[in-house]
Amino acid sequence: MLLKKLSAVIACLSLRTSASPVHQPQSFCSPSYPASGWEIRDIFSQYVEQWVYQRDYSAAAAKYLSPNIIQHNPQIANGSAAMVAAVGPILANYDGPNFSLVVVDEEKGLAVTLNRYVGKPGTGLPIAGVTDFYRFDGTCIVEHWDVIESLPPNSTNPDPF
Ligand SMILES: *[C@@H]1O[C@H](CO)[C@@H](O)[C@H](O)[C@H]1NC(C)=O
Ligand SMILES: *[C@@H]1O[C@H](CO)[C@@H](O)[C@H](O)[C@H]1NC(C)=O
Ligand SMILES: *[C@@H]1O[C@H](CO)[C@@H](O)[C@H](O)[C@H]1NC(C)=O
Repeated sequence: MLLKKLSAVIACLSLRTSASPVHQPQSFCSPSYPASGWEIRDIFSQYVEQWVYQRDYSAAAAKYLSPNIIQHNPQIANGSAAMVAAVGPILANYDGPNFSLVVVDEEKGLAVTLNRYVGKPGTGLPIAGVTDFYRFDGTCIVEHWDVIESLPPNSTNPDPF
């Protein structure tokens, strides 16, 4: 009886593991997985954790970004390698994010983050607001836009971004 219960619990546990999109694939882009709404939310929150908070750009890119990601930042070429190469050195001068908003529209396959960064002491860099837009194809992030604004010296708003 106990054994039966135990194996039921184990079956339930393994079901939960395999039902999650987190069967830890090498990449969500290859081969492309079909995506349900909650999977896109789950995948995007993992991406944000690894890319935004851990700043683990190469590993996050390998797992979540299309190698051929279409890039709209005016200073970065297409492709995840160019994005990784550009973002690391820029954000090395900033602390943060000190504030974040994350919005996911899983029906449209779009996700948005707003992050507030603070220039590291001694750099003279101001506070900056960075909005990133991402488009999913299935479970893979295939397109990126961003809008970046630095706090003007005479800003009237004490709580920008
Ligand atoms: C990036 O890829 C898109 C889609 O293939 C293309 O339209 C665009 O011209 C490419 N941009 C650059 C800078 O090569
Ligand atoms: C940003 O956050 C860090 C720690 O998370 C804190 O030490 C710092 O004071 C914050 N800066 C601003 C301007 O909010
Ligand atoms: C801030 O300074 C710029 C340049 O001096 C000026 O054009 C702008 O009107 C100022 N803005 C505010 C809100 O004072």
